[in-house]
Amino acid sequence: MQERRAPCHKGVALSKARRLMSAHNPAEMRSRRFGPSGPLRGRIRVPGDKSISHRALMFGALAVGETRVTGLLEGEDVMATAAALRAMGATIEREGDGRWSIHGVGVGGLLQPEAPLDMGNSGTSTRLLMGLVASHPITARFVGDPSLSKRPMGRVTEPLGRMGAEFDGETLPVTERGLSPSIPIEYRLPVASAQVKSAVLLAGLNTAGITSVIEPVPTRDHTERMLKGFGAELWIEQEGGERVIRLRGEADLKPQRIEVPGDPSSAAFFAVAALVVPGSALTIENVGLNPTRAGLFEVLRQMGGSIEELNRREVGGEPVADLVVRHSALKGIEVDPALAPSMIDEFPILFVAASLAQGTTTTSGLDELRVKESDRLATMAAALTGAGARIEERADGLVIEGTAGEPLRGSANSATQTHLDHRIAMSMAIAGLASREGVEVDDTRPIATSFPAFEALLDGATGSPSRLRERIGEGATTLGNTDPPPTPSASGRGE
Ligand code: S3P
Repeated sequence: MQERRAPCHKGVALSKARRLMSAHNPAEMRSRRFGPSGPLRGRIRVPGDKSISHRALMFGALAVGETRVTGLLEGEDVMATAAALRAMGATIEREGDGRWSIHGVGVGGLLQPEAPLDMGNSGTSTRLLMGLVASHPITARFVGDPSLSKRPMGRVTEPLGRMGAEFDGETLPVTERGLSPSIPIEYRLPVASAQVKSAVLLAGLNTAGITSVIEPVPTRDHTERMLKGFGAELWIEQEGGERVIRLRGEADLKPQRIEVPGDPSSAAFFAVAALVVPGSALTIENVGLNPTRAGLFEVLRQMGGSIEELNRREVGGEPVADLVVRHSALKGIEVDPALAPSMIDEFPILFVAASLAQGTTTTSGLDELRVKESDRLATMAAALTGAGARIEERADGLVIEGTAGEPLRGSANSATQTHLDHRIAMSMAIAGLASREGVEVDDTRPIATSFPAFEALLDGATGSPSRLRERIGEGATTLGNTDPPPTPSASGRGE
């Protein structure tokens, strides 16, 4: 096997904060207290979707010619993907705010990286790139921060191993040796994971023949949508209640223009903040509402949340709308576990909403939350209990007794442990807004993995001008405090 080497490339360096986190340096932690807040008003726009941004860079890197992307999320996770793709030969340039140009190497054209690929905190970068490397004749070493280094990679090394790739372990750091020609497989997903599905399909791109993935439970379908857009031959069929995706390998990807819609997983924090802080009426523009991602908004409506959709349209092949969210009296419900894949990243913020609802909210079927950036069941149970909420932690979910709209006590005297998990930090920041004492978040730096402008946007929407002044220039987009449309006669879907 002849190895092809990429020219030495500086790539996108991960931020200083992330490198310090890799070194686990508590002295550098950036804590912040999020205190009780006034209503969230006006219009905001959240950054581009993280899942779609990773895929836009990866597929652009495999197309021959120039792919142009607007609205790319410039968070650390996506930058880790960009750096790795550069290290394997793609040319990726930032042209302006969220505007990027990619010159791809063609399917089969990835080169041998000179140095280990630093995945930072990003499971999506790691698992999808392992898929790409699997069917190229190159060797890559994947390294990551302490959180990522605990996460299971066996779920991708197992199917990719069947395709011919070799791995020296199942947790990072891992060295992967790809194989070309690789072997097409038919793979039934043992866990509902879009990352595993995508890893196999991405390996299938440079594998002669048909690679198939069978999904007993549907997961986010951005890979399928975008691969079709890039011209890959891909068929999706329902067979015996399962979703079967077949891809013809040795694909020829054509460069595209991609507009990335706003991330529903980022919009989620602001939607819940507006629901729980009295007097709020907030418009969140350009939110991606792909049905495989929009479960949280459905659950919040079942809880009595007023979330109106305006201006439904399509952006980059994905359904999008502007959401108008108003303070609402939430009530506890039993959350249907079948919805879990469509809101898998939104449970931490749902737990915050449930803590402030009237009555009991029961969640189950959430074993996957234990292997995210942190164990999100244990971390949220501890964090919310510390802030005065009543939580019972079960093996596969939380049961939460809400305050019926009364603020939580808060946790003024002890910092909430976020365990390097961006979504825990943002969820507990929102809990702080609806508390008496405020919530002290131990480290806000991980927020930059998915939502660097979170704090500035929050300060803008809650009208904390001093914080906004400090942070201006960090890419926040507060679109002004113009009043949202008048309250509709009934809550729920608009138009
Ligand atoms: C993602 C899939 C989900 C999600 C992650 C992003 C993706 O992970 O939690 O944040 O972009 O494919 P799993 O597929 O492992 O559930």
